[in-house]
Amino acid sequence: MKLIILFIIAYLLGAVPSGVWIGKLFFNKDIRTEGSGNIGTTNTFRVLGKTAGTVVMIMDIAKGTIATLLPTFFGIQHINPLIFGVFAILGHTFSIFDRFNGGKAVATSAGMLLAYNPWFFVFAAALWVSLIYITSMVSLASMIAFSIVTVVSLWLRDPYLTILALLLTGFIFYRHRTNIKRIKAGTENMVHFGLGYKK
Ligand code: G3P
Repeated sequence: MKLIILFIIAYLLGAVPSGVWIGKLFFNKDIRTEGSGNIGTTNTFRVLGKTAGTVVMIMDIAKGTIATLLPTFFGIQHINPLIFGVFAILGHTFSIFDRFNGGKAVATSAGMLLAYNPWFFVFAAALWVSLIYITSMVSLASMIAFSIVTVVSLWLRDPYLTILALLLTGFIFYRHRTNIKRIKAGTENMVHFGLGYKK
């Protein structure tokens, strides 16, 4: 019973649509109807600016981190903490507070990694930022970063992490399918480094 309650808490944490709520509360804007329409960090930066974008990024990462730390907080040792992170990611992407719509799983997955292996998170974050610099596209950088993280995770000899990273990479590509269409068409939103956006 305790486990089921903690899974539900992890899902509900992940389901908090921080970008939507901050947009409505502080800007009277619905980010689902502007920019890419995504509720995540990137579209919050794009539509609401740097401060709101930074807050949403921290909140979306924290959702994955706190959910993955739940078993530690409650003294549960017989179950892999990544499972709690997965519930947060499912909450983020299929949110009960947003008619089971949601984000593209990037920040919350990163938050899960932060709780599970902070040094690997630092590597992944540095890789992601470098790829944004190189590609000028957050979507492309996210997809490439997760692919590389999956391959590099083999080095850690943690099969649970590698299998989950592989599944997440597939899921992240699926969640970015409209971005992939735009990338192919040459119409994807570009980002100046420093997170100023241009079309
Ligand atoms: O984390 C989502 C990002 O990879 C793409 O966001 O708003 O450009 O679709 P967006």
